[in-house]
Amino acid sequence: MNDSLSNLLSENRTFAPSAEFAAQANAKADLYEIAERDRLAFWEEQASNLHWHEKWNQVLDWQPPFAKWFAGGKLNASYNALDRHVLEGRGDRVAFLFEGEPGDTREITYAQMLTEVKKTANALLSLGVKDGDRVAIYMPMIPEAAVAMLACARIGATHSVVFGGFSADSLLARIQDADATLVITADGGFRKGGAFGLKSIVDDALKGETNVQHVLVVKRTGQDVTMGAKDIWWHELVDKQSAEHEAQPFDSEHPLFILYTSGTTAKPKGIAHTTGGYLTQAAYTHRIVFDLKPETDIYWCTADVGWITGHSYVVYGPLINGATQVMYEGTPDTPHKGRIFEMIEKYGVTILYTAPTLIRTWMKWGDEFPNKYNLKSLRLLGSVGEPINPEAWMWYREVVGGNNCPIVDTWWQTETGAIMISPLPGVTATKPGSAMRTLPGISAKVVDDEAKEVGNGGGGYLVLDKPWPSMLRGIWREPDRYKETYWSRFDGLYFAGDGAKLDDDGALWLLGRVDDVMNVSGHRISTTEVESALVSHHAIAEAAVVGANDELTGQAIVAFVILRGGVEPDQELEKSLKAHVTKEIGAIARPRQIMVVAELPKTRSGKIMRRLLRDVAENRAVGDATTLADPNVMKLISEGLQSEKKED
Ligand code: WT7
Repeated sequence: MNDSLSNLLSENRTFAPSAEFAAQANAKADLYEIAERDRLAFWEEQASNLHWHEKWNQVLDWQPPFAKWFAGGKLNASYNALDRHVLEGRGDRVAFLFEGEPGDTREITYAQMLTEVKKTANALLSLGVKDGDRVAIYMPMIPEAAVAMLACARIGATHSVVFGGFSADSLLARIQDADATLVITADGGFRKGGAFGLKSIVDDALKGETNVQHVLVVKRTGQDVTMGAKDIWWHELVDKQSAEHEAQPFDSEHPLFILYTSGTTAKPKGIAHTTGGYLTQAAYTHRIVFDLKPETDIYWCTADVGWITGHSYVVYGPLINGATQVMYEGTPDTPHKGRIFEMIEKYGVTILYTAPTLIRTWMKWGDEFPNKYNLKSLRLLGSVGEPINPEAWMWYREVVGGNNCPIVDTWWQTETGAIMISPLPGVTATKPGSAMRTLPGISAKVVDDEAKEVGNGGGGYLVLDKPWPSMLRGIWREPDRYKETYWSRFDGLYFAGDGAKLDDDGALWLLGRVDDVMNVSGHRISTTEVESALVSHHAIAEAAVVGANDELTGQAIVAFVILRGGVEPDQELEKSLKAHVTKEIGAIARPRQIMVVAELPKTRSGKIMRRLLRDVAENRAVGDATTLADPNVMKLISEGLQSEKKED
């Protein structure tokens, strides 16, 4: 375990909610007991907050590891997110306060969202999209991204959102795996002060073999794009559609979306989510964890819709709960490092949900940026994506929250669909750096190698021992891989891939991944995926990739490579390798450092000793030697191998 994590375990400060906050909180302490008394009845009650066209006849059908929640029930996700509010008189409430990076703004009410979604649903139908078809969405962070998702849900098409930072190759692989017939994209978006292209990347991706019939293109930046035979402008098709569309009921287990995430192999997993259970838990957790008061709160989750956080806590959870939220297209330092704080002041944001990597970046930039703005509207802060170190937690509390806001550190995964472990803001006395305990209705354990519970004071593996409504229903078309990945390590238990520890009070501390998955800025990247990108470069014979601790991004990608004969290591090679990985996977997978080695440390069975490489990567000061072939690296590796032998 690394130093920051062991420091974290000696943390013993606690912060109880203020009496005022506790008194007005959506969730009170008795919720734990209520859920405990009858778990399924508890979830039925949460499901009843949705609108069902037809009620379910079975709460849970559990054929491990396959679950059906609210079986027999019928509902429509888009109806729950939009129609319901309009029908109940909330059509004039603002759903999105959108701000583009250049400063353009749009206020979109629930009624306007509904009209746009109905027209888009009609547009998709006119293109021949049917329920059960897959639609790939590759968009910047603009309201049309949410509209596209909801239009798919409305007609029962399964959306597969691909983060706009992924490369053409990554996009193609996802389009192929899901067998999508339509791609919804934009000409581009604004980021870091300029326009980037998306349509051009879709064009590149579609040079590959796919069943894509049409590409629907939102005009966002006005940049030049090539419109081919399959391509249709959104404004030309959607604007002329009828604004009438009746949401059809779909089965509770109808596939709502697929979202790809990295695993321990090079091929991303298509995490499959369905409708009734997912929406139930997304809406429930959004209401109790963020304490949403829809009439008065201004909520802001900074995640992109390309990640699960954007699905559950920008689109489905908040809209079902009738929230008014801020949506921002760009980067936090454009045009200045106070952009997010400026927007908190401007919109009077009350609830902010963001990632530790951004919090640490703010700390580095300096207090003058948050201090320049009035952040007094804030009343609750959230964190997600990776363990938050106590120092960052305290800074978030003091400098952003003015010592006045409960912090909810929320643990969950693409696979869990919604928050699983988190403080309840009006109930839990929080400890800086701990996600504290499972939410009412959720059950998790920390176990050792033999699946025995470790008990307070012990560390081990985090497992989920009871099915939950928003759990993944599988890996898209790979049922065996689903069983193997999540259910084979411990009999009958879902293994999350995370290490965890219970402190003496039973509070839960997440300790990061225990598999070959890296977490860079809260995004999951597999070591094998980057390795296979590297070895596809003509100069590379072999590659090993590790996630080394990084002050800002949590982990950073460090690659060790063996060159092919005759290749000389130089700066140009380093640049070319980094560019190659960016092209193959996307900028998020670009290695921080590449080191050329003569050989890689391996076990007798030929497995790369990543732990040793991680030590080497961490022991060698970042950026000290820009030469790729640093003789010290091989020296550190052989020293490591020797001490490894001594330990045997
Ligand atoms: C992995 C899931 C959940 C949305 C964002 C990431 C890590 C997530 C926390 C947290 C410690 C966390 C875990 C998990 N993680 N939240 N609060 N504390 N670790 O979703 O890409 O599916 O990644 O992120 O390692 O397994 P994801």
